[in-house]
Amino acid sequence: MTAYSARAGDRLPQASVADTAAALADLLGPPIAKGVILRRPRMVALAERLDLDRRMVRRMQALRRRYGEGPLMLRLPGRSQALVFAPEDVRRVLDWTPDPFSPDSSEKHAALAHLEPRGSLISRGPARDVRRRFSDAALASDRRVHPLADRFATVVRQEVDSLLRWADRAGSMIGWSDFVVAWSAIVRRVVLGDAAREDHELTDMLVRLRAAANWAFLHPGHPALRARFHRRLAQHLARAEPGSLAAAAADLPAAPGTAPTDQVTQWLFAAGPAGIAGFRALALLATQPGAADRAAAEAAGGGPELPFLRAAFLEGLRLWPTTPLILRQTTQETLWHDGAMPAGTGIAIVAPFFHRDDETLPFADRFHPALWLDGGRESRLPAGWPLLPFSGGPGKCPARHLVPLLASLTLAALLERHRFHMGDPGRLDPARPLPSALDPFSLAFAVRPAA
Ligand code: HEM
Repeated sequence: MTAYSARAGDRLPQASVADTAAALADLLGPPIAKGVILRRPRMVALAERLDLDRRMVRRMQALRRRYGEGPLMLRLPGRSQALVFAPEDVRRVLDWTPDPFSPDSSEKHAALAHLEPRGSLISRGPARDVRRRFSDAALASDRRVHPLADRFATVVRQEVDSLLRWADRAGSMIGWSDFVVAWSAIVRRVVLGDAAREDHELTDMLVRLRAAANWAFLHPGHPALRARFHRRLAQHLARAEPGSLAAAAADLPAAPGTAPTDQVTQWLFAAGPAGIAGFRALALLATQPGAADRAAAEAAGGGPELPFLRAAFLEGLRLWPTTPLILRQTTQETLWHDGAMPAGTGIAIVAPFFHRDDETLPFADRFHPALWLDGGRESRLPAGWPLLPFSGGPGKCPARHLVPLLASLTLAALLERHRFHMGDPGRLDPARPLPSALDPFSLAFAVRPAA
């Protein structure tokens, strides 16, 4: 890493008032309107129609042209806030998490405290370490294939079969409202076991907590509902049903301060966007040339590896990241090339900018799964260029292998013997740049048995 050589008195570039206002509108506007913790379908549809997320990329490119590679300080009353542009700065922020770059930013804390006040993401010091270790161990964060993968494959197969049977009988389109029923059942069974399959109320309670969390500081919260949700989750975890993540968690040595239900709330909550990403990947596979045949051939080969389906899923997350803003907050003053950044500064890494910077990446707006296949990133990206669907460094998502595993198993079960025809394929016309946002709630597919 290059040495950061500024002295404490040097000042980082600062955006003008007008550029700060434009940055807030274009960078925060789309994620906040769409709902940070729970998506609002009408706003998600509007974002696709107006190609709103393109503005995030364009704004970052304009700021980079005007102010250089930063970090750039925004001019905000009462809040010190920075944007990062240089790949080496992104790497530094992620690699030096949680100190001096804590994931526990004020905004994230306010939002997540509605659901999981003792969650690892909004904890600090030894409490964060112990909570993060719990998720790492139960989710087998370093393993490409989770030890319980065989059981997960059975669960996925059963739920997808019942979805496909329903589609055959109804002879109609499969839409989000059908897919999400199957996906939620998969998630409850994988995380908590078969006895939780029908516990729709648990999912509904979490939806209400997430809706309040969208408002962060501005919503008083539902403390009674939260307590009820955590009690019910604790009962599910206590069963430690064999073959579930609850059992994997129960096998871990009990460490004081872990707060298991708070960590598992994050798992259940984050499985929502994973379903959205899986459904978008299905749309890519249905529309991009040759993709469905390749997927079907891979699915027929069996096994949990499924490299192409994983790559297609990850490519969907590059194109439409479900965590568009990765937020950190500095715990002490930090020095950069051009100046010092005060303690308590919020840092935003704008994922869509790095994923879709068409001034740097020739394939920015195309489906390019080769990026995620062996050696793809090294050979196709400028050195050190970040793609961050799951963040990076010690704060990266502990489900970065588990999520692609579950999603690729689901896509394999869907595509092995069926063809999906998107109702409105023009939305993902391979001859045109892919849209900056893709509303999953309005996707629908006609399903036919493969010839
Ligand atoms: C599309 C699916 C998902 C994506 C794109 C994703 C992405 C991320 C990202 C970017 C972070 C870092 C957030 C930050 O720094 O503020 C994160 C954290 C986390 N994710 Fe995921 N995630 C997904 C699904 C899941 C699932 C299904 C689970 C659990 C089964 C999970 C467990 C966690 C946990 C426990 C953390 C907190 C880590 C920490 O405190 O350091 N994620 N995820």
